[in-house]
Amino acid sequence: TVTTEHAAWLPAEALAPIGALRVLVLGSELRADTVRADALAATTRWGGQLLDDLALGADVVLALAADLAGGTEAHHPAVAAALATGRDPLGPEGFAVARVDGVTAVVAGGGSGLLYGWFHLVRTPTALRGSNAPAERHEPAHALRMLDHWDNVSVHPVMGQVERGYAGASLFFCDGKVRGDLSRVARYARLLAAAGVNRVSINNVNVGPDAARLLTADLDDVRRLADVFRPWGIRLHLSVTFAAPISLGGLPTADPLMPEVAQWWATATAAVYAAISDFGGYVVKADSEGQPGPFAYGRNHADGANLLARALAPFGGIVHWRAFVYNHRQDWRDRSTDRARAAFDHFAPLNGQFDENVVLQVKYGPIDFQPREPVSPVIAAMSATRLAVEFQVTQEYTGQQRHVCYLAPLWSEVLGFRPWGQTGSTVSEAADGGVVAVSNVGDDAFWTGHPLAQANLYAFGRLAWAPSSSPTALLDEWIGLTLPQASAGVRRALHSLMDGSWRTYESYTAPLGVGFMVSSTRHHYGPGVDSYEYTPWGTYHFADRDGVGVDRTRATGTGFAGQYPQPWRDVYESLETCPDELVLFFHHVPYGHVLNSGSTVIQHIYDTHFAGVERTDEMLREWAELEGGVPGDLFARVAELLVEQDRSAREWRDQINTYFFRKSGVPDAQGRRIF
Ligand code: GCU
Repeated sequence: TVTTEHAAWLPAEALAPIGALRVLVLGSELRADTVRADALAATTRWGGQLLDDLALGADVVLALAADLAGGTEAHHPAVAAALATGRDPLGPEGFAVARVDGVTAVVAGGGSGLLYGWFHLVRTPTALRGSNAPAERHEPAHALRMLDHWDNVSVHPVMGQVERGYAGASLFFCDGKVRGDLSRVARYARLLAAAGVNRVSINNVNVGPDAARLLTADLDDVRRLADVFRPWGIRLHLSVTFAAPISLGGLPTADPLMPEVAQWWATATAAVYAAISDFGGYVVKADSEGQPGPFAYGRNHADGANLLARALAPFGGIVHWRAFVYNHRQDWRDRSTDRARAAFDHFAPLNGQFDENVVLQVKYGPIDFQPREPVSPVIAAMSATRLAVEFQVTQEYTGQQRHVCYLAPLWSEVLGFRPWGQTGSTVSEAADGGVVAVSNVGDDAFWTGHPLAQANLYAFGRLAWAPSSSPTALLDEWIGLTLPQASAGVRRALHSLMDGSWRTYESYTAPLGVGFMVSSTRHHYGPGVDSYEYTPWGTYHFADRDGVGVDRTRATGTGFAGQYPQPWRDVYESLETCPDELVLFFHHVPYGHVLNSGSTVIQHIYDTHFAGVERTDEMLREWAELEGGVPGDLFARVAELLVEQDRSAREWRDQINTYFFRKSGVPDAQGRRIF
C-alpha cells in the first residue's frame, strides 16, 4: 500500500521553471492572494523571488485588468501588450499573455482569470523564455465546468462511501459528516483549478438521509467546504432530494405546484445563501432509479425543475436537473419499451418550458455511460433549454480504474459531434449550460486508484475549457506535468500505452455498440453477457442463434432512430450508412452480416477480442520496460493493475467469443481457441 500522497499534475518540479524567476502578482482579491501564495511557495523553493513592486525588475507579471486602469504598471511594455488584446474586455475567467523584452505578462479579467493565467504559465514554460511573443487571449468555451461527486455522507450498505468510486473513501465525508481536516480538499481544489474546473457538487445524486441534511442542519459544514474551494475559483453545489419538503420540512407533500412547498424551498435556499453567498445551486436526480420526483403528484419535469429554479433565482443560483429518467422496472418481455428512447420522450415535449436558470443535464449517450453509444438525441431536441452534457470520469463501465482507459478521445468525439449535420453546431456549442462529469477521486494516495486515471480527470477539465483541444496533446501535457523528470523515451512509452486505451477497452468488451454485457447489476465489473438480458433494467442485446443487436429503426424497430434530426435519423436507420461501431446499437443483424469494414459481424467479434488481449499483453511488456524510469510506487501500482487488466481482458475475450460461438455455431476463420 502507498501512503505518501502523490502530487498528481502539480509536483513541486512542475513549478521549477516559474519558481526560478522574479514574479510579481498585482491585485488585492481573494484569488490574487491564492496566486501570490502559490508563487511564494514556488519561488522560495526554486530560487526565484516574489516581488511587490514592478520597479524591482520582474520576469513575470500577473495583474488584474481592472486594477491596471490608469496606473503606471499599465505602461510596462509587456503588460501593455497583454492589455491590448482586442476591443472586447476579458471575461472574469479570461486572461491574456504576452512577452516583451524578456518579461512575460498575464492580464486577467478577474480573480479566476488570474488563477488560470498562473496555471497556464506553469504548464507552458516556453511562455517564460525566449523572444517577444504577441498577446494571446484565453477564455473558457464553457462558463460551467463542473465535477459531480457521488459521495455518500454515510457509507451505503451496497454502494459504499463513494457510489461507483474506485479510489477509496470520500475526500469530503467521514463518519457520517464533513471531515474536520480539509487540508487534502484544499490540495484537490488546487489540482482542479489547474485543470480548469470551476464547480463541484459534493454529494451523491442518490441522496441518502444524512446527505439530505447538508441542506439544512449541516449547512455550517458545507460552508467550511465552500470556504476551502473558493480561493481556487470553485463554487460549491449540493445534490438535493425532491422530497426534502417532506423529509426535512415535515410537510405532507412535495408537490411542486403547492405554495407551501415553494415557500419551503425559498426559505431553505435563503438560509443556504446566508451561509454561502456564492453557493452554486442544486443538482437533482428526480423520478429516476427510485429517487422521488414530480411524477408522484402528476406534475412534469418542468414543474419540478422550475420549482427549485425559482427558489435559487433571487441569488443567482442554478438547478442542474438530470435527464436520466427511464423505467428501471420494465418487463424484459415487453419489446415496445426502449430505454434509449426514454429521456427524449420525457423531455423533448418540455423544450422551452424551463426557466432560464435550469440546466438540463444530459448523459452523453441515451443509455448509460457505455464505452460506445451514439450521442443522445436529447441534445438536438432542446434548442430552447439550457443544456449540459454529462460524462463519467469515474470508470464505472470503462474498467473501474483497474484498466487503463484514457477517455479524452471519447469525450472529444462527443463534444465535436454535429447533431444537425456538418453545417450545424457541435455538441459543445449546443451545451450552453456547460460540461459536467462524475469525478473519479477518493482518499487514495494517487487520488484516482489507478495512477493513470489521473489523466482523465485532468483532460476532462481541459476539454471543458477548450473542447477542441487534441486529446493526444492533452495526454502529453498531463504526462509532462505529472512526470517532469521522466526521459523523453519514458514519456513516449507512456503516451503509446495510454493513447489508444479506450479503443482497446472497447475491443475486448461488448461489441459494435451493443453495450452492457457487464457482470451483475451491482458492481458492473467484468463480463456477464446475459446478466442483464432478463432483468427489468432495459439493457438487452437480443442475441439468438441467428443474430444479435437491438432494432431501433423506425421501419421495424423501436423508432429510436427517428428521435434524431437529419441527417442522423437516416444515417442510423440504414444498415448501409450506420457506422460499424454502432451497428448493434441500432440494428439486429445476422452473424454473417458484412460490415463496412468488410468483415462479418461474427468474425469482427472474434478478431477484436483476440486483438484486445494481444494489446493488453503488449501493454504489460511495455510497462515492464519503464521500471526505474518512473517513481517506484507508481510503477508498482500500475504494474499490479495491468496484470489485473490483462486477466480481465482475457476473461472478457473468452466469455464473449465462447458465447457467440455457441450461439451461432460459426467457427473462427483463423481457427483460434474458443471454448
Ligand atoms: C448509473 C449508475 C448509478 C447512478 C446512475 C445515475 O446507473 O450505475 O450508480 O446512480 O447511473 O447516473 O444516476
